[in-house]
Amino acid sequence: MISGSVATGIAEAAEVLHHGGLVAFPTETVYGLGADAFNPDAVAKVFRAKGRPTDNPLIVHISDIQQLYDIGKNISSIAQRLIEAFFPGPLTLVIEHRGQIPAMVTAGLPTVAVRMPNHPVALALIEAFGKGIIGPSANLSGKPSPTTAQHVYHDLNGKVDIILDAGATTIGIESTVLDITTSPPTILRLGGLSRTNIEQIIGEVQTTSSAGQLKRSPGTRYRHYAPSAFVELLNEGDQQHAHHRIEYYHTLGKSIGCIIHSLKISTTHLMSLQSITKEEYAHRLFDLLRKFDEIGVDIILVECIPDTGIGEAVMDRLRKASER
Ligand code: TXA
Ligand code: MG
Repeated sequence: MISGSVATGIAEAAEVLHHGGLVAFPTETVYGLGADAFNPDAVAKVFRAKGRPTDNPLIVHISDIQQLYDIGKNISSIAQRLIEAFFPGPLTLVIEHRGQIPAMVTAGLPTVAVRMPNHPVALALIEAFGKGIIGPSANLSGKPSPTTAQHVYHDLNGKVDIILDAGATTIGIESTVLDITTSPPTILRLGGLSRTNIEQIIGEVQTTSSAGQLKRSPGTRYRHYAPSAFVELLNEGDQQHAHHRIEYYHTLGKSIGCIIHSLKISTTHLMSLQSITKEEYAHRLFDLLRKFDEIGVDIILVECIPDTGIGEAVMDRLRKASER
């Protein structure tokens, strides 16, 4: 349900989009930085606001499946089954496009990424606007994605015309990006929809080697999801390893933040997530990384979680955040 004041906000935001402005909007995964997908000047503004390399293509967000057929072609039966099962939801499909989408959106690739977010405010905004909007995560390029309107404000204050605040996003991690132009389809980015869920509908999918991924999903080459502090991973449940690393950083005079769930350790800045589900973990992760940055620690030590279900996407983000 959308209240009266939210409806006014959405109407205003749609007006901003019509005039080539930028609107940050909530989705079920993370907040997006919206602009008219068919207006190259507006798209250019998004790249500038985020400081995003222009060879990293964007996702077109739709509210009606017809919009996917309008911009895409050769929509296979595999695509149709995935759409049936998971739209709206945390799945982005990479499909061939018909050539009307500005090259800046697709980084000149023959494919376009399309997703229908499962959030009433996002859907109402796209519907009010009447066509697809691009929506990269509304963070500065390289930083953890925003899961609250406050995160968006922190990164993009002054660069965005309106922020639609609908509280914290539910999933907390970006959509799964699946390229269905390959056979079998290829997961280009793990995310809110697990591999198992996809395979239940269309059978086995592949994950690209890092070289192949670079070619097909240019965005994956850049440092990502990283707070200002260094992130280092701790083996799950390995007390000895954890104590060794903490001692090492203390000797160097570094301040440490820890995110743990089964380890027993004591440091000043400790977030102990005992008996938390993987879903809750995904929901909280980016906020925790940003909180430790606010405190100003030098190192964030994070205990690994089992990489099954959404845990696979969480561990993907943590590994990328820990790359130096
Ligand atoms: O959950 C999400 O997907 C969020 C919310 C706001 O919808 N959006 C998001 O957008 O995470 P962004 O721009 O941060 O990530 C888009 C990913 C990038 O890894 C990009 O390289 C990939 O999708 N991508 C976009 N178009 C592509 C294409 N044509 N081929 C391959 N990869 C593509
Ligand atoms: Mg992003």
